[in-house]
Amino acid sequence: MAKTQKAARAVERLIETAVQAQKRAYCPYSRYPVGAAVITDGGRVFPGCNVENASYGLAMCAERSAIYHAVASGADSIAAVAVVGAAAKPCGACRQVMFEFSDKDTALYLVDLNPTTGRRKTLKTTVWKLLPLAFDPLASGLLPANPRNLLRSRAAKTKKRSRR
Ligand code: THU
Repeated sequence: MAKTQKAARAVERLIETAVQAQKRAYCPYSRYPVGAAVITDGGRVFPGCNVENASYGLAMCAERSAIYHAVASGADSIAAVAVVGAAAKPCGACRQVMFEFSDKDTALYLVDLNPTTGRRKTLKTTVWKLLPLAFDPLASGLLPANPRNLLRSRAAKTKKRSRR
């Protein structure tokens, strides 16, 4: 299979995983279901959805749920993230968490899914574009050495962060 076709299939799989995850959202308070998925450089895909609580402030967004799921499963890189919802846009907290595991090229697919018509509009951007002037102690040389730090290993692998 051609490289571009393979990449397109991976994006389809990523988005489809987020679409399915949205159906599992636990959001009885906001009634605003969001699905997300992340894909690693190696092609592993992890879903996430928003999970709310009677104590409202404990709600967890779909994007962070997917990222934490990936990290807990041993992922060390995030090649792309998809978010599915009505007018889906990641909140500020999720942008910072996605940034932690992203490099300049980490793609972000925002899938605006109309719940009544089922129509989808997908916008492709990057995690970095959505968080200019991000809190980034790594770029400033402020992080202590830690070989298990995922952010450092990701940055070492791509060597792109230092060229901002
Ligand atoms: N939410 C997400 O899951 N992702 C976003 O990008 C924005 C907001 C959730 C949190 C809460 O459960 C509901 O949407 C309404 O804010």
